[in-house]
Amino acid sequence: MLEGRIQNKKYISKGPDETKDIGYRLGKKLRPGDAVGLYGELGSGKTTMVKGIARALGIEEIDIMSASFTIITEYDSDPPFSHIDLYRIEKDSELDEVGFWEHIGGSGISVIEWAEKAENMLPENLIRVGLTSVGEEIREITIEGRDEKDWNSL
Ligand SMILES: Nc1ncnc2c1ncn2[C@@H]1O[C@H](COP(=O)(O)OP(=O)(O)O)[C@@H](O)[C@H]1O
Ligand SMILES: [Mg+2]
Repeated sequence: MLEGRIQNKKYISKGPDETKDIGYRLGKKLRPGDAVGLYGELGSGKTTMVKGIARALGIEEIDIMSASFTIITEYDSDPPFSHIDLYRIEKDSELDEVGFWEHIGGSGISVIEWAEKAENMLPENLIRVGLTSVGEEIREITIEGRDEKDWNSL
């Protein structure tokens, strides 16, 4: 089938609530051990999307903060959920210092803002989400990785 050849899936979001909803539907498809990398400029909607993913795991949206100052926040959900923001990471060695690897590839689910800061070190099966602002409230959201067919019908 043609669908099997699709490398990634593109969604258009017309506002923060739509981005949260795409995150929620993505979150519902995640399995223990999955890691999601979020790529995009400041203000592109990464944290907004994390709120939707977290809600799919039963975490209150209000508990999800811009993680820029904490780098890693782990939530006591089932499976455990780690929200990681690498914005302030400047060199690879800092990833060890903040305990980054303890949150990747275990039995929990992790989402990583500014995943480009750990590029080349991330698991091969990373689910990659790219967010691009194409207007004040319009975002182009691309999802790829693992079973691409999953992302065609979020
Ligand atoms: N379609 C959209 N999706 C996500 N955020 C949007 C959208 N339109 C406007 N915004 C606004 O853009 C900002 C995104 O902020 P945030 O999610 O913290 O981005 P990031 O984590 O990428 O820096 C918020 O102020 C949000 O209200
Ligand atoms: Mg953010």
